[in-house]
Amino acid sequence: MNPELRGLGFETRAIHGGSGPDAATGAVNTPVHLSSTFKQDAVGRDRGFEYARTSNPTRKSLERNLAELESADFGFAFASGMAAEDAVMRLLRPGEHLVLPTDAYGGTFRLASRVLALTGLEVDSSDFGGQDDLFQVLKPATRMVWVETPTNPLLRIVDIASTAEAAHAKGALVVVDNTFATPWLQRPLELGADIVVHSTTKYLGGHSDVIGGFAATNDPDLAERIAFLQNAAGAVPGPIDCFLVQRGIKTLALRMDRHCANALAVVEMLLDHDAVSEVLHPSLPGHPGHDVAKKQMRGFGGMVSFVVRGGERGAKEVCGRTRIFTLAESLGAVESLIELPALMTHASTAGSSNEVRPDLVRLSVGIETAEDLVGDLRQALDSLDP
Ligand SMILES: Cc1ncc(COP(=O)(O)O)c(C=O)c1O
Repeated sequence: MNPELRGLGFETRAIHGGSGPDAATGAVNTPVHLSSTFKQDAVGRDRGFEYARTSNPTRKSLERNLAELESADFGFAFASGMAAEDAVMRLLRPGEHLVLPTDAYGGTFRLASRVLALTGLEVDSSDFGGQDDLFQVLKPATRMVWVETPTNPLLRIVDIASTAEAAHAKGALVVVDNTFATPWLQRPLELGADIVVHSTTKYLGGHSDVIGGFAATNDPDLAERIAFLQNAAGAVPGPIDCFLVQRGIKTLALRMDRHCANALAVVEMLLDHDAVSEVLHPSLPGHPGHDVAKKQMRGFGGMVSFVVRGGERGAKEVCGRTRIFTLAESLGAVESLIELPALMTHASTAGSSNEVRPDLVRLSVGIETAEDLVGDLRQALDSLDP
């Protein structure tokens, strides 16, 4: 980080962190360096960059910026959230045991159980909400506990501090997928996690125009191993993608606050609507994770799930009738999205312990005018066939 930013607020560091004005030209934004290779002044003497898979100045700027916002000394950008997760899971050796939450993102479950399990990784998914549940699934071979909080799509909350305490007592690392919360709402490394991962495709990019991933840590040994994997496997993002993610980060705090406020307005309307039988959002005092969310998050986030009366048919009808909420996968961007996880984002969990019920609708509440979003959902629910 630019040492002048030390001690300044999150929003200031989000905007000015990374590389600062370009030393050569004064450009206030990080230049997009497309060069794949860099001149060396003599054999064995470079200027910090040799070959762009290993390191690239635009990527470096993003890596410094986002690592620092996550309170991490080391950060690594990847070509997608899954590429970042793949690198982190590859820290484990054959025979070692990985514990995933039952409602982890479907792709996380698929990567662990259908790709890395083939290389000898032992994978279990478990419904752990706190220390006691976790103790029951930890084995002598457990080396990594994967946490997603809030989870996708059930919005369950895991207590990061107590999970880290329980996992560390058994010699396991704790990885937190912080995609839903972002470092503005929650900073897992400050709560005891060892590694934080992101799909930067979501809130960090924030505009549905880039695919990216990130992993950050304070442990120099883990950092060295992740850097090795990043270079050896080569799943790195291009410089334009890095630029787009870093541009998104500049407005992260503003956007997240509006996502949170709009989600609260949507939740209030859903709670009142006869066609809705259940609303899932950590802001609700009846939500089992409400108190923990209040303790470890600045706000409750922009993701809302709900169950529609009328089963899968009703849920499909609602998804087909919204006008402002676009029917699409993904989340975390300025525009509001609606989807049916069982048949869309979480289709890969069908038949597994992570299977999602078919009448659950997931919303990514965007930053449009709150009344328009509430009105759009209300008209979609009002017109449901009884
Ligand atoms: C919580 C979470 N983690 C990871 C991913 C994977 O990220 P990507 O699509 O960028 O590979 C997603 C994608 O939806 C996600 O929702």
